[in-house]
Amino acid sequence: MLDIVTYGSEILSRKAEPVKEIDAEIRKLGHEMLEAMAGKGIGLAGPQVNECLRIFVTNVEGDKPRVFINPEIVQTSQELVNIEEGCLSLPKLYLDVIRPEFVRVQAWNEKGRPFTVEAGGLLARVIQHEYDHLEGILFIDRLKSGKRDKALASYRRLTKG
Ligand code: NI
Repeated sequence: MLDIVTYGSEILSRKAEPVKEIDAEIRKLGHEMLEAMAGKGIGLAGPQVNECLRIFVTNVEGDKPRVFINPEIVQTSQELVNIEEGCLSLPKLYLDVIRPEFVRVQAWNEKGRPFTVEAGGLLARVIQHEYDHLEGILFIDRLKSGKRDKALASYRRLTKG
């Protein structure tokens, strides 16, 4: 089982590299990432499992499990929405974050086929959160600086000992 990297690890703030080839190794990684988050979360990105590659997976209720390779967010809505987020790399911390309500994303799946998803609701939210991981951005980085400091203080409190 893949280990999940937590806050403080340098890889979480690094920009991930494009996947060069969608081969058996990448397929295996996608599968293992879905396994690693089963029962714990609804999205996981490469850097969170120590793979600095542009890949993330989602498994949102009402949607099939998905693997996004070299994703691009090609459109976001003007409408913003405030939704509570968590992150397997910042366990126990849940905070409201404002982001666009809808996104259109293009990516390749684990079979090497291109696909487009137009998403709203929770799927749109997860896609944006996971895409940020590929850019080295965590959900706390989307907060205003005062709120971010508070969030980090409560994270340290929550995970102490
Ligand atoms: Ni996360």
